[in-house]
Amino acid sequence: MKVAIASDHGGINIRKEIISLMEELKIDFINLGCECETSVDYPDYAIPVAEKVANGEVERGILICGTGIGMSIAANKVQGVRCALVHDMFSARATREHNDSNILAMGERVIGPGLARSIAQVWLTTPFDGGRHEIRVNKISSYETENVQVSL
Ligand code: RB5
Repeated sequence: MKVAIASDHGGINIRKEIISLMEELKIDFINLGCECETSVDYPDYAIPVAEKVANGEVERGILICGTGIGMSIAANKVQGVRCALVHDMFSARATREHNDSNILAMGERVIGPGLARSIAQVWLTTPFDGGRHEIRVNKISSYETENVQVSL
């Protein structure tokens, strides 16, 4: 598996922590920055990572900003991306098993590097359950790609 990782200025420390985790796990990754101490704009990092996931250049993405919210909103605008904003261990596993999330977003002003590392490890190593969850994920994809309407 290949992973693209990026952060804005608000997520540099967690990005370093997750890079060291991926090195330990021998996961191939591309580090897209930022190499900044000054303020940058999170969409400039979220969208390139999301596009690499969407076009198959990498299988997964990890995005970190101050809250994780801006990164997740921006990444989810790219067709084919299922970005999950996660700050707890239960959701880290559940979003892989149930949503087949392909990008993980976290906020460095919300959680510390230790929890972020544990979340990323579970998220990187948990497979999708498929079955009924695949039917649900496919409904999102059909709406996104073919405008197949979902109504009650
Ligand atoms: C940057 O100040 C901050 O807005 C950004 O890191 C992120 O939290 C946005 O959602």
